[in-house]
Amino acid sequence: MKFVPSTRIQTIAKHAALLFIALFHLTALTMCSKQNARHTIQSPDGRLTANFLLKSGEPMYMLNKGNQTVIDTSHLGYKFNSLPAMDGNFELVEATTDSHDETWTQPWGEEKDIRNNYNQLKVQLHNPAENVHLNLYFRIFNDGLGFRYEIPQLASYNQVEIASELTGFNFTGNHLSWWIPGDPDSYEYLYHETPLSKIDSANTPVTFKADDNLYVSIHEAALTNYAGMRLRRNEQDKNALKSDLVPWPDGIKVKADLPMQSPWRTIQVAETPGGLIESNMILNLNEPNKLDDLSYIKPMKYVGIWWGMHIGVNTWHAGPHHGATTENAKRYVDFASQHNIPGLLVEGWNKGWKSWLSGNNEQDYTQPYDDFNIQEVTRYAKEKNVGLIGHHETGGNIPMYEKQLEEAFQYLEDRGIHAVKTGYAGEMKPEGMHHHGQWMVNHYRRVVKTAHRHKVVIDAHEPIKPTGIRRTYPNMMTREGIRGMEYNAWSKGNPPSHHTILPFTRLLAGPADYTPGVFDVLLQQQHDKRKKLVSDKNLENRVHTTLAKQLALFVVFYSPLQMASDLVENYESHPAFKFIEDVPVDWQTTRVVNGEIGQYVTIARKDRHSEEWYIGSVTNKKKRTLNLSCSFLDSGKHYTAEVYKDGKTAHWKKNPTSYAIDTIEDIRKGSEIAVKLAGGGGAAIRLYPEE
Ligand code: NOJ
Ligand code: CA
Repeated sequence: MKFVPSTRIQTIAKHAALLFIALFHLTALTMCSKQNARHTIQSPDGRLTANFLLKSGEPMYMLNKGNQTVIDTSHLGYKFNSLPAMDGNFELVEATTDSHDETWTQPWGEEKDIRNNYNQLKVQLHNPAENVHLNLYFRIFNDGLGFRYEIPQLASYNQVEIASELTGFNFTGNHLSWWIPGDPDSYEYLYHETPLSKIDSANTPVTFKADDNLYVSIHEAALTNYAGMRLRRNEQDKNALKSDLVPWPDGIKVKADLPMQSPWRTIQVAETPGGLIESNMILNLNEPNKLDDLSYIKPMKYVGIWWGMHIGVNTWHAGPHHGATTENAKRYVDFASQHNIPGLLVEGWNKGWKSWLSGNNEQDYTQPYDDFNIQEVTRYAKEKNVGLIGHHETGGNIPMYEKQLEEAFQYLEDRGIHAVKTGYAGEMKPEGMHHHGQWMVNHYRRVVKTAHRHKVVIDAHEPIKPTGIRRTYPNMMTREGIRGMEYNAWSKGNPPSHHTILPFTRLLAGPADYTPGVFDVLLQQQHDKRKKLVSDKNLENRVHTTLAKQLALFVVFYSPLQMASDLVENYESHPAFKFIEDVPVDWQTTRVVNGEIGQYVTIARKDRHSEEWYIGSVTNKKKRTLNLSCSFLDSGKHYTAEVYKDGKTAHWKKNPTSYAIDTIEDIRKGSEIAVKLAGGGGAAIRLYPEE
C-alpha cells in the first residue's frame, strides 16, 4: 500500500468538502427555484393584473388594478382530514396560459348577449415528499378575477375530506364593507355597513369600497358538490378575510371523490358601484347550458295567494280563513288574465300545513285540501291563459321531501304546471345539516334536475345563494335568499336603505324573488280584519317605502319570475298598476345610470321583445333630486316617458301613497329627466318610441 502524506490527505478532504458544499448548494438552489415562482396574467384591457406566487413552496396570489393593490399576497390551499395538508412544500410542475373570447346568448336575463373574454393561467403543483398534486386555475376578466382549485386523482387517495379551505383575501385597508352575518342557514338579514375590521363572519357577496374609484365584491361562482363559502376575519389582521366553509354535522366541510374541482372564488372589481352591477363575470365562470329542451322555461310576472297569509288575513291550512280555496283561486285567475299577468302562485293548496314549523313538517305534495278543487282550478286557469305556480314547502324536512320528489313533480307535469316555488323554512332534517352545506347544495341541485325532467322551473325560497348556476340550468330561474317583502308583514320590516344596498350585494349574485309591489303600504284595508286575527303588536307593521318606490323595484331588482305581491283587490282600478302591467321581466340590456351604495341607485333596462326602455330609481330615507341622463337610449329615436313618481308631499313614513303620473314627450338619447325622490321614495319610468 502506497503511503500518502498527511498533507495530501488534508488537501483531498478539503476538496471533497468543497465539492460537497457546492453540490449541496446547487441542489438547494434548484429545489429553491422550483419552490419559488411568479406567474402573471392581465385582464384583456390590461387594467387588472393577477399574480400567482410560490414562496418557499407556499401557493399564494395577489390582484392589482394599475398601481392599486386590490388583494395583497394571500394564501391558497387546503387542510384535510387524514391527508397531508396542501399548503406548502410544493414545487411548480408547469404553468400554462390561455385566452378566451366568445359571446353567448342567455335564454332569459338582464342581458341578452354576454361577452366572455378572459386570460387564463393554469398552475400545476406537486409536493414530492407527500406525492400530492394540486392545480389552480385563474381567469382574469376586465371586471375581476376568478380562481378555483382542482385536486387530480392521487396515487394513494380516491377521496378527500376537506377540513378547511385556506383561501385568503388580504385587503390593503380597513375598507367600508356591506355584509350580512355568516349564518349557515339563512341570508335573510339586513346589511351592516361597517369598516372591514368589524366583520366577524359574513355570507357572500360581501362588497367593499376600497377607494373612490375602486369597488370590490367577493363571492363565488358555480357552487356544485361543495359547501357554501362564508368569509371570516383573520383575527391577527384587521384587513384580512379568509374562506370559511359551512360544515357537515361531523365538522367536515366537503367530502368529495377525486378528481374534484372547487367552485370559483370571485373578486369583482369596478371603478363605480354600478360597474359591479353591470359585471357578468359570475355567469361567465359557469358552464354553458346543459338542458336540451328550454321550451317550457318562460320568464313571467305573477300574482299570488300569498300576502294574505303573511299579513294574517288568510291561513295556509284549511279553515274559515283559508286562502287557497277554489273560489279565491278563480278570482285571482280572473285578475291575472285581465291584467297581463301570466302567472299565479297558490300557497296552502296541499294537505299538511298544520305541521309546518312544528319541528316535524309532514306535507303531502299530491293531496289538495278539500276546498281546493285542483282539477277545476287548472282547467279554469288554462282557459284564461294563466300559468299556475305550484308550491312545495318542505319546512326543512328533506328526507320527507326527497321521498315524494318524483311523484310531486310528476303531479305538476300531469296538470300542465310548469313552475313551482319550493321552500325550506324551518330547522333542517336530518339534524345538524345546514341549508348552505354541501349536502344541501346537492339536494337543491337534485331538485333542479328533477324539475327539468318534468318541465318545471324553480323559484327556491330559503335556498342556497345564487352562483350563476342559471347559465347551466336555466330552469333554476329565481330564488329568495334575501330579506324580502314578507318581513314587512310580521317584523319591524325592511328600512328604506335596504333597497339601495341589495343591488350592490345580494343581487350581484343573481336574480332575487324579493316580491315587490305592495300598494297598501300601511296594510290599512286589512286592519279591521287583522285586529281579530293577529296580535296587536303586529298591527304596527307596515311597508317602509312610498308607493312609487314599490314600482321602481320592478326594474331595480331583477327576477325572471317577478311577483306583484299585494292582494289583488288593492290593485283593482289603481292607475299605478298600469306600470306593473307594462314592465317586462326579460331584458335586452341593462345599464346603471347612477348609484351610491346604501344611498340611491338608478337602473335602466331595455325590453328584450320591444324597443321600450324602463328605468327604476330608488333612494334611502333621504329625499333627493336626480338628473337621469338618458345616454343609453337608441340614437335617432324619439321617446315618450311615462313617469310614475312620488307625490309632492310624499314621504315613506308620513305620506307613503301619494304619487303622480307625468308624461314627457320627445326624449332622445342624451336627454335628461329630472326626478324628485321623496324620503324612502322612488320613480319608475316607461319610455316608448314615438310613432
Ligand atoms: C317563507 C317564504 O319566504 C314565504 O314566501 C312563504 O310564503 C312561506 N315560507 C311559507 O312557505
Ligand atoms: Ca323566506
